[in-house]
Amino acid sequence: MTGKEFPVLLLDWYSKHARPLPWRRNPEPYAVWVSEIMLQQTRVETVLPYFERWMERFPNLPALAEAPLQAVLTAWEGLGYYSRARNLHAAAKIVMTKYVGQIPEQPAELAQLPGIGCSTAGAIASIAFGVDAPVLDGNIRRVLARVFDVSEPARSPAGEARLWDLARDHLPAGKAGDYNQASMDLGARVCTPRRPDCPNCPLREVCLANLRGVQSQRPAQLKRARPPHYTVAAAVICHAGQMLIAQRPTDKLLGGLWEFPGGKLLPGESLIDGLKREICEELGSEIEVGDLLGVYRHAYTHFKVTLHAFHCRLGEGDHPHPFEAQALRWVGLDRLDDFPMGKIDRQIARDLQSLETRC
Ligand code: ADE
Repeated sequence: MTGKEFPVLLLDWYSKHARPLPWRRNPEPYAVWVSEIMLQQTRVETVLPYFERWMERFPNLPALAEAPLQAVLTAWEGLGYYSRARNLHAAAKIVMTKYVGQIPEQPAELAQLPGIGCSTAGAIASIAFGVDAPVLDGNIRRVLARVFDVSEPARSPAGEARLWDLARDHLPAGKAGDYNQASMDLGARVCTPRRPDCPNCPLREVCLANLRGVQSQRPAQLKRARPPHYTVAAAVICHAGQMLIAQRPTDKLLGGLWEFPGGKLLPGESLIDGLKREICEELGSEIEVGDLLGVYRHAYTHFKVTLHAFHCRLGEGDHPHPFEAQALRWVGLDRLDDFPMGKIDRQIARDLQSLETRC
């Protein structure tokens, strides 16, 4: 059945339909590594402009290792999941010192570096070094779950184990890099999550889910609880022509990025009371809360946020302190672009700039 024919059909399809991606032109280890980290949970189309700019800004490992973290976060701004940028930067420094600048070839060694899990280690080892290593990312998981009609939920321990076995057992020796990338491309272009293009799939005659008509039920999903939703209030505090921004602690979500201070409301708390309390806890300051600037929504991986941003002023003679932030800065509208920010705070900054808000 499917087992033997599957990699042959896949490689044959890839030889005709591989996407001409920049890191495939010259798959040198640093470029492959950067691309694989950017591609974690992120689509190729989104990554492409970031990858090109990154390779101009940090063309090699020493350039990345020597760059300040702020420059690295700025180059990453908009890609999300910022721990990837911090880990890549930390890992570049480790490779420079521990491995004298040579990126390790074996998956077990690669997986010791920050930000590199088993799947990414397999991708770098197979694509950049030709090692026979399996990969199990979202696209490959879906292709395998369908071709082999895996009924265990893909994210359950049993499903994970079965899918890793399938990925490993069908690796064509010496061609793992192409085989892994072929599955990724097939998953992105043909074997898509919704409405897969089965009539044009090179695997249609060996794919058990297609033959049994259960494509839409594979990969089987774990029943997930709905992600929580948080209501947040933030303060655009203006003083002497400038506004106050705070740098998030490195070990928290969006660590190292800058934001307008504020935080989550407690159950039953009003927006204004919650904002005053948060600013008091975060900065030790009293504020006057003025007009609403806007309401901003964003869905993170595990929760959703609705943020209400208010124009605010400091109480007389008040000096904010960074009780919860790494640092505080007063900046004018024209300098907001110099500070890396997450999606919501960048949108607030853009709204302030387009309204030419006077402080
Ligand atoms: N997703 C993750 N790695 C990839 C790669 N090397 N090519 C295409 N899509 C990918």
